[in-house]
Amino acid sequence: MKNDIWNLRAKQRDILRNVLDPADEAGLKNRYIDIIHKYYLRRYFIRHDGGSTLDFGCGVGRISSWLAKFSRHVVGVDTSPEFIKKAKTLNKNRRISYYRGGLDILGSNRKFDRAISVWVLQHILTDREIEKTAGLLGNLLKRNGYFCLIEQVCRHNRYMRLPDTGEVYLVHRTMDEYTRIFSQNGFRLRRAVLMPETVWGFVYRVIRKNRLPRLSLKVLPLTVLFDIIFAWAVLKIKKMPATGRIDCLLLFKKSTDTK
Ligand SMILES: C[S@@+](CC[C@H](N)C(=O)[O-])C[C@H]1O[C@@H](n2cnc3c(N)ncnc32)[C@H](O)[C@@H]1O
Repeated sequence: MKNDIWNLRAKQRDILRNVLDPADEAGLKNRYIDIIHKYYLRRYFIRHDGGSTLDFGCGVGRISSWLAKFSRHVVGVDTSPEFIKKAKTLNKNRRISYYRGGLDILGSNRKFDRAISVWVLQHILTDREIEKTAGLLGNLLKRNGYFCLIEQVCRHNRYMRLPDTGEVYLVHRTMDEYTRIFSQNGFRLRRAVLMPETVWGFVYRVIRKNRLPRLSLKVLPLTVLFDIIFAWAVLKIKKMPATGRIDCLLLFKKSTDTK
């Protein structure tokens, strides 16, 4: 997505609408997605050495401000100047630094223990760019460092186009495609986890249509628990939706130095 769209989105006050679903006025769906993302990150990523962490495509700092609790230092980079400005204003923690730009602004001498990227790679549209990004991430990680991504994936690569111009603005890749790209850049896949709550989950289906009043936030933790049990049961039956997209978490370990 072009930078001006992110800068435009930054004008909205609600920080979750800035980076998740901009149409979610009631805020329940975005809160729910935020909880689910952090639940999976805590379960699969946080436990790996928490020294220095890179948050690639940090947006307004939704993930980096939370990661700071589990890291010695967090660096967030993002190409949107408005998001970086907002991230700096919102998160005054001295253990977080924000930089505007792509990964190349960090230079090649800097090394991180781990890196993360949530809902960013789907906005990198061409094969050339995504391969380059994987290479740069490899260069920025220490040997045996972890890289974790959360993306929306499909059974087949799916290109989302703007209705008026036909221009591609988002790509839902397959899990295999991400695995191939990162394997070719010195990473080994350690975990591949589907996050069914955000598509099949009972709670998600109800709240995405804003059917619940704001009051329900009080019972959200309970319903999330119910939903996780529900989603687990669904996962036992299906592995991947035939159509549509689903969030997944992929955890890679850097095994060799990138060329
Ligand atoms: C959907 S938002 C997600 C933000 C954040 N990761 C989160 O989950 O809250 C996508 C972000 O990726 C950033 N982005 C897209 N392409 C990028 C690139 N090539 N380099 C750095 N940031 C990028 C956008 O500016 C935007 O802030």
